Amino acid sequence: MLRAKITATGSYTPERILSNQDIEKIIDTSDAWITERTGIKERRIAYESQITSDLAYEASLIALKERNIDPLEIDLIIVATVSGDMPFPSTACILQKLLKAKNAVAFDINAACSGFIYAMSIANSFIKTHSFKKVLIVGVEVLSKFLDWSDRTTCILFGDGAGAAILEPSESESGILSTHIYSDGSLWDLIYLPGGGAKHPTSHQTVDNRLHYIKMKGNETFKVAVKTLENLVVETLKVNNLEPAQISLLIPHQANLRIIIATAKRLGIPMNKVFVNIDKYGNTSAASIPIALDEALKQGKIKKDDYILLEAFGAGLTWASALIRW
Ligand code: UT7
Repeated sequence: MLRAKITATGSYTPERILSNQDIEKIIDTSDAWITERTGIKERRIAYESQITSDLAYEASLIALKERNIDPLEIDLIIVATVSGDMPFPSTACILQKLLKAKNAVAFDINAACSGFIYAMSIANSFIKTHSFKKVLIVGVEVLSKFLDWSDRTTCILFGDGAGAAILEPSESESGILSTHIYSDGSLWDLIYLPGGGAKHPTSHQTVDNRLHYIKMKGNETFKVAVKTLENLVVETLKVNNLEPAQISLLIPHQANLRIIIATAKRLGIPMNKVFVNIDKYGNTSAASIPIALDEALKQGKIKKDDYILLEAFGAGLTWASALIRW
């Protein structure tokens, strides 16, 4: 059966580190609170001059080099982001220019933290229908530029980064076995950025009212996330006729260590089979899964024929999972 296979990955995070201790100096919070409630110890913050496409470019170059592919061979670029360079054109088109990948079709998708798995699902469908053969998918965010650094309930959570993967057709047993993507727009106001769009076009008033920053109802989001992800991972295994013990590695979206632990517990998967790097990067939204996947691969945590389960939950609301046989 024809399916898409990940043939290379790359990731990039800015060098600038912001620790919990650094944030203690800016707002009323503590390393102890952040560590206990989220698992985050530090996050990466882009320099003023670094923009979303720059991070996407760095991660993409690593993946392309790993596979020894000329950018001209790429026929589709999908960038998952909610913090693009500008409202339009798409960050994917800007990345296409930076890579000189002039034979590619390029577009963005907006599915927040679930964006990379959404991109994977779209790429998989296109590959299965023979529409594209060499697809570059990227999850990238510079959420630091959209954070209200006077709001302790959000600014401690997010970080910047990018992760990329190349997907190609596979006739073998290995590749993406299934993807599962969902949305519930009725809960859009749990996590959102109100300003600068058609609803609240930029004005002095929108700026004075701090509408250009991320708003989140954290505790409500937490509860929905835990319940939704528990059901999602169980369903993903069921569809693939797999038992939890057959999963070699769970790669969850890194939003909150407590959510990750709850999901693993529901599946009965021990934490040594769960990839966690939230302590280093915080929540990098669409970049979180591809950065984790790239790190897991480069740390030798994934071997041929392993079953890998990816899952994510984010603004929209959106949620998504993928089951991969490596
Ligand atoms: O990636 C997209 C999906 N996102 C998520 O899944 C995020 C889900 N939400 C969460 O991760 C958690 O809800 C948070 C980490 C955001 C918050 O943790 P929580 O345990 O839900 O805390 P809370 O919002 O219920 O707040 C508890 C207390 C409050 O004080 P009072 O009202 O009890 O006196 C907050 O004001 O903690 C206070 N608080 C803080 N204290 C110190 C909130 N933020 C901070 C802070 N430092 N940074």
